[in-house]
Amino acid sequence: MTPLRLDRLDLLRELEPTAAKNLDRHLAISKEWMPHEYVPWSRGRDFDSEPYEPGQSTLGPVAQIAFEVNLLTEDNLPGYHREIVDGFGRDGAWGTWVNRWTAEEGRHAIVMRDYLLVTRAVDPDALERGRMQQMQVGYDAVGKDALRVMAYVSFQELATRISHRNTGRYTEDPIADRLLARVAADENLHMVFYRDCVTAALELTPSQMAIAIAEEVLGFEMPGTGIADFGRKAKQIAKAGIYDLRIHHDQVILPLLTHWGFFELEGLDPEAEQARTKVSEFLTALEGLARSYEQKAQARADRARQRVDA
Ligand SMILES: [Fe+2]
Ligand SMILES: [Fe+2]
Repeated sequence: MTPLRLDRLDLLRELEPTAAKNLDRHLAISKEWMPHEYVPWSRGRDFDSEPYEPGQSTLGPVAQIAFEVNLLTEDNLPGYHREIVDGFGRDGAWGTWVNRWTAEEGRHAIVMRDYLLVTRAVDPDALERGRMQQMQVGYDAVGKDALRVMAYVSFQELATRISHRNTGRYTEDPIADRLLARVAADENLHMVFYRDCVTAALELTPSQMAIAIAEEVLGFEMPGTGIADFGRKAKQIAKAGIYDLRIHHDQVILPLLTHWGFFELEGLDPEAEQARTKVSEFLTALEGLARSYEQKAQARADRARQRVDA
């Protein structure tokens, strides 16, 4: 028996009422906010008369890295916009959502860059070169269909929400904290939109959506992977507890799978059952890896304490 699969146009047509309902809700609950009100402009000085020096930053080195990575990720918006248009199209509620989402996302890079430049929190030349490099690498979702895009952005918006929120706290600067909490609140509403589209798709075509979710859980990569030296930076961000495997497992992947009732879905076809088994195995491995990193971190902390006591 050939499993039932809907093609892209049927999917988008069938899910159009869901997109319209979720869009209306989003427009009703999202609050207008002004990026310029989150930036301490009075701290600004001209760079030509007073060039940047590393000692001017009031953020620690890891807070600088996390902020920079979060901003460069936001900078890649044109690439994500293209992928989302490819997934959802330009028509009807989908098209309206894509444009609204893009406009909201645009605000994130604006407010974050303004903050970093005005406060001289990072090297402005390195930041600009990083932006140029990141945007030229671009972002390529390699032919993901609408369902995979939906699953990916659900995880990604939630991951971004947490990463912004934790970066804000980590800076220990109340201004940065308030700014990143505001951005994180946007990411949360984006996540809710996509998450609820996935819920509707699971009702419409459960096996097809379950396979898409599985593919995205197994292959998940943060969009910042095109950033120069991303591996080293990601490690430092993880060590600082801003975004690590434990958070990825406990606060991103698991809550969404639970919300969707992924492991309780009934009547899946054999291909979807197999995909679900792989997710289960993957989560066990991820949990094991997260635990082993925690044990290593604990051992490091114990050794440091012993050295202080000695
Ligand atoms: Fe964003
Ligand atoms: Fe977002």
